[in-house]
Amino acid sequence: MTSQYLVDPGGPAIPIQPIAKEELPTWRARAGAIAQRWIEATSFDAAPGKSLLVPGRNGELESVLLGVSEPTPWDWAALPLELPRGTYRIEGYHSPKEADAAALGWALGTYRFERMRSKKEAAPPSLEWPEACNRPRVTAMAEATALVRDLINTPASDLGPAELAGAAEQLANDNEASFHVIVGDDLLEKNYPAIHAVGRAAAPSRAPRLIELSWGEASHPKVTLVGKGVCFDSGGLDLKPATNMKLMKKDMGGAAHVLGVAAMVMGAKLPLRLRVLIPAVENAVSGSAMRPLDVVPTRKGLTIEIGNTDAEGRVILADALAEASGESPSLLIDFATLTGAARVALGAELPAMFANDDELASALLACATGESDPLWRMPLFEPYRKLIDSKVADITNAPEAPLGGAITAALFLREFVGDGIPWAHIDLMAWNQSSRPGRPEGGEAMGLRAVYALLEERFKK
Ligand code: BES
Ligand code: ZN
Ligand code: ZN
Repeated sequence: MTSQYLVDPGGPAIPIQPIAKEELPTWRARAGAIAQRWIEATSFDAAPGKSLLVPGRNGELESVLLGVSEPTPWDWAALPLELPRGTYRIEGYHSPKEADAAALGWALGTYRFERMRSKKEAAPPSLEWPEACNRPRVTAMAEATALVRDLINTPASDLGPAELAGAAEQLANDNEASFHVIVGDDLLEKNYPAIHAVGRAAAPSRAPRLIELSWGEASHPKVTLVGKGVCFDSGGLDLKPATNMKLMKKDMGGAAHVLGVAAMVMGAKLPLRLRVLIPAVENAVSGSAMRPLDVVPTRKGLTIEIGNTDAEGRVILADALAEASGESPSLLIDFATLTGAARVALGAELPAMFANDDELASALLACATGESDPLWRMPLFEPYRKLIDSKVADITNAPEAPLGGAITAALFLREFVGDGIPWAHIDLMAWNQSSRPGRPEGGEAMGLRAVYALLEERFKK
């Protein structure tokens, strides 16, 4: 529980004074003599996220100064690891947006993944809930982020397709949602051949499956979320080199994200009919593995030539997107750690967003900015469609030329999305390569709050 370090106001608490850089001179002029001299002596400049412990007359910790910019959680997120033990409160007036940013930053700053360690860190300090804060929303965002990070950080040995299904089932049970899963050879019988083809090489206990959660009144608008659930991506017979394979426990990051969004939607009881689909597999190597240039049938009927067994995400998503399209939802969003190419284009911190609907794209970008949860739109560039033509099958999962790989992957997915369905695809890293305040090295939620804010804006009564 990352929100457990946000506490009810009332007891003794050390004040934290947020100060914008340009306000510092005025603020200093009005401060007491000790604080004035301390700011001078330490050259504190109120840079965003920088803090200063201010002593009182007897050497006690009297207050904390914190540099802030426009409201963003990240300015607040270093404090829980920097401040001494105790309880803190925010001083002065703050808008609801500032209050939410502060509380969310605090909560995210207390996250760590230590369940597999015998030695735990000391408990971080607590912050009193700021007055204007939307507590349920902040709590939901912090908990959903922690869920996403925990699922990604869990080693593949402990989180195979079965355990991923278990996590979805637990979430369904907690929220009175319905849960359904199709496992192993039943995928063939029920016509999800592409999911089966990718996952069939794994050990029987790690058989492929299609996980489904549904929630909400049938009369409400239908929103479907699809997440790539590759619990480990070895590359398959086109085996990844060791350095590229190392992080591939995170290849179920898309699945973790859709569960995180679902947790928030159900917690807030948004008036929509939610459906979550997760094709969950391990892309493994064995005698039954799919081979380069095999042709794989799909639920939609299109055949896929396997140009590269490492381009497995789009193959399993093909069946999940076709299934999702069956009931023509009013909104379809997928999250996937789909391509290295999206990381080459935008780096590790900025997910690529593709959409077949301009209005949806701009609304999503606005939410991303508003939530300090950035996304960047990339084009479904029509002239590149020919790059995924196959000479043997209807389409190939890996074009000959590697250029534009994030775009050709998105164009591939689009083939399986039903006509007229507003669809957005988020190709994300789901991992922090190094630690920043509130964003420790390891699994990360990216675009989670942006997508939730969009659903809230569209569907909240
Ligand atoms: N899971 C990877 C993509 C990935 C790699 C995402 C690193 C984030 C970080 C995916 O399954 C993959 O291997 N894609 C290939 C596709 C190629 C073979 C057409 C890639 O991006 O190299
Ligand atoms: Zn792969
Ligand atoms: Zn993958």
